[in-house]
Amino acid sequence: MFHLGLFTGCGVQSWNGMWSGEGATEWLHPQLYIDAARAVERAGFDCVILEDAHFIPDVFRGSMDFALHNGFHAPKQDLFVMAPFMLTATEHLGILPTLTTTFHPPYLAARTLATLDHISHGRGGANLVMSHNDRTAQNYGADAQADHDARYDAGDEWVALVEALWNSWDADALVADRDAGIYVDTAKVRPVDFEGRFYRSRGPLNSLRPPQGRPVFSQAGGSGRGRDFAAKNVDLVMTNVTGIDAMKEFRADVVARAAAHGRPAGSCKVMFNVSPVLGETMREAEDKRQRALAAAEANIEINLGWLSYYSGIDFGRFDLDAPMPALSTNASRSTTAHLKTRSAGMTLREFASRPASGAVELVGTPDAVAAQMGEVMAEVGGDGFLLQQPLYRQGISMLTDGLAPALRRRGLIRDGFAHRHFRDNLLDF
Ligand SMILES: Cc1cc2nc3c(=O)[nH]c(=O)nc-3n(C[C@H](O)[C@H](O)[C@H](O)COP(=O)(O)O)c2cc1C
Repeated sequence: MFHLGLFTGCGVQSWNGMWSGEGATEWLHPQLYIDAARAVERAGFDCVILEDAHFIPDVFRGSMDFALHNGFHAPKQDLFVMAPFMLTATEHLGILPTLTTTFHPPYLAARTLATLDHISHGRGGANLVMSHNDRTAQNYGADAQADHDARYDAGDEWVALVEALWNSWDADALVADRDAGIYVDTAKVRPVDFEGRFYRSRGPLNSLRPPQGRPVFSQAGGSGRGRDFAAKNVDLVMTNVTGIDAMKEFRADVVARAAAHGRPAGSCKVMFNVSPVLGETMREAEDKRQRALAAAEANIEINLGWLSYYSGIDFGRFDLDAPMPALSTNASRSTTAHLKTRSAGMTLREFASRPASGAVELVGTPDAVAAQMGEVMAEVGGDGFLLQQPLYRQGISMLTDGLAPALRRRGLIRDGFAHRHFRDNLLDF
């Protein structure tokens, strides 16, 4: 068996498509997220990972026009306001809102995540990112991002402090002894007096210890430094490496790094990012794929916008018919290296005319795609898939009412949740 996660966001995602519904404004309100959370829980997903960034993209052609005209990564809602609606509407699902360690003070994060974990009886967590865009830095008062590896060094310390703050309360500190007139046993709460290179905090936290002790962390670093951060600190690593060989290499590397950090086998799960193309017949799914290819070719700007977003480099200024330009960035380093490998020998036009496909291309009926996912997992030995899906009801329904039941009929995904806490369910297999 393997795990499923939904990767989506809380911004405008699908607003002008045939099945967008009221997507132009519905993303502002909780019901869309509540419906999605209930649907994926019913379908047996372990979690929803909510992507985020704290800026309006303006690298592409040096302007916000592209992002704002297309509803591309802007505007967005605050994930930590939306996540509680999803948690209180469900009973088993874990929710991981993206949280930037670079701009979110540890004390504030420890409190917010403890609260998420309490309101959900142990299903809280966060997807940790270090933020890669200079605009984010400028929105928080700095001139530019710190060096790529230094962001991860600070991230390691951030995690250590957040954990120390959660540990500043023992699990049994709350006694609520009416006879003695004692609410909290002060012997079980203590300062942390944390003095690090990047952070200081006195503590203790002014929230109770979270039910999970340590809410679940995920992360998607792809560089050597990023993988090491993930292998040391998080429960769930996600990646968009492509192809079976790269998937095997990624998983083996993360597993080895986790072992080197002294973590028990199986405690750091690896999930692969995919975007299945589903149809009622193989022909219909293939038609959809062809339409996506044609759309990417006709609207090359969308892919140039994506490339600019991830690399921090303006892809609008290169000659489309020249070979892919040499790239170097302080932003998302492994994504840029990955682009380099995938685009070898191509012109920018050729490369940008292809839609992104995820770890493996999955095209077919729900049953055919389920079979393919089973084969891929058997070969790679990974822990599951992160299904990347913009938030509109028909798109979610294809996954939850078509694909997930087909996976379950093959015995590949769970048919219930054995535990109350998110991490315990994640560690079940
Ligand atoms: C599946 C996936 C999801 C990601 N989601 C986010 C996100 O929501 N916000 C963000 O700032 N970065 C996101 N990233 C980028 C990663 O946090 C990281 O910067 C990137 O993978 C490059 O890692 P590296 O700097 O170690 O090379 C995501 C990456 C992947 C592969």
